[in-house]
Amino acid sequence: MNRVTRLGNLTTRTFLNRHWQKSPRLIRKAFPKLISPISADELAGLACEPGVESRLVIKIRRQPGWLVRHGPFTVQEFRTLPEKHWTLLVHDTDKQLPELADFLTHFQFIPNWRIDDLMISYAPDGGSVGPHVDAYDVFLLQVQGRRRWSISRKPQAPAIKPGLELKQVRAFKPQHTWILEPGDMLYLPPGVAHHGVAVGNCMTFSIGFRAPTDAEMLADLSNLLLMRLDKEARYTDANLAPADTDPGLITKQARATIRQRMRGAQHLSSGKLDEWFGRFITEPKSWLVPNPPRRSLTPAALRTQFATRKELARDPAVRMAWYDDGAQQIKMFVNGCCHPLPMRLSEFARMLCSQRLYSSHQLGSWMPDRDAIRLLAELYNAGMLYFP
Ligand code: SIN
Ligand code: CO
Repeated sequence: MNRVTRLGNLTTRTFLNRHWQKSPRLIRKAFPKLISPISADELAGLACEPGVESRLVIKIRRQPGWLVRHGPFTVQEFRTLPEKHWTLLVHDTDKQLPELADFLTHFQFIPNWRIDDLMISYAPDGGSVGPHVDAYDVFLLQVQGRRRWSISRKPQAPAIKPGLELKQVRAFKPQHTWILEPGDMLYLPPGVAHHGVAVGNCMTFSIGFRAPTDAEMLADLSNLLLMRLDKEARYTDANLAPADTDPGLITKQARATIRQRMRGAQHLSSGKLDEWFGRFITEPKSWLVPNPPRRSLTPAALRTQFATRKELARDPAVRMAWYDDGAQQIKMFVNGCCHPLPMRLSEFARMLCSQRLYSSHQLGSWMPDRDAIRLLAELYNAGMLYFP
């Protein structure tokens, strides 16, 4: 779909062609009448909960100039903060509050599996995390108050500050500076140095993306390859020629055998490789696994429940993705597991993977399908789907 979204006068296609992964873009009034789905107090409350990743970054006089504290915090810790020059950052807020997960649907012109999280920051006047570079694309949406953003596209030398977990840059010289008002949004591709400073109290949403490194993917893929490997298969040389004149030599023939064995050990068909990626990319964050319901339901019992319920919801921390494998099967991935489905369920898979709320009207037409209801029951019993 090529419709105008929250990108000002740009269509999603133009934005992706011109800016995505390429160049920064400031979008004034991207969300013209934005009312924050969360207050500063609610955000502080989230940062006090166990299982929620949060940080306080406080500017201090003594070296290294910054203090980083990790949550969960206590109300007392918030009470004793200085008046100015600190920032509270709360990660994965979309996994905690369904309203925030639903807010991310504004960014669905980028595949869901590329979205990492909605990180929310709150800062009083002067609050900042310092000039830094991120490895990921980010939309910085001003939600409350004002923030001055400065950016530089020049390569930056990283600041070496032992003990400080911030990827700050040294001698940051801004090339552009803007003050963002509520509803304004700044897109930054990876590698652009940026520095945001609160102008009065302010709240900023960072919609951050994920792009696994080749090293991460290879490490995961190696586990799969190792699992598939015959553990007893080993080097053989039944046709060995006498080595007596040169016993230290690794012969041409031995090298060829090793190359052949190792290439063979790495071989995966395209289908298996695609399936590995589906499982890998939908793997949930380890601390965000769903809780199964107290009472599990059979597919038949779940079908009966639908008759009286308005909708079914997906736990916002559950990751789903799908594709048609081109060989008459749908591959649907949920939290690192592959669920092969018959082709007739392609629209069902599309719906499950692109929405978080499923009305009983939408689900109704799939109820008679044995494979569809069986999958819904399995996901319900794992706590991944629930009746809100
Ligand atoms: C902030 O919101 O203060 C920092 C967000 C970022 O720079 O990624
Ligand atoms: Co950043």
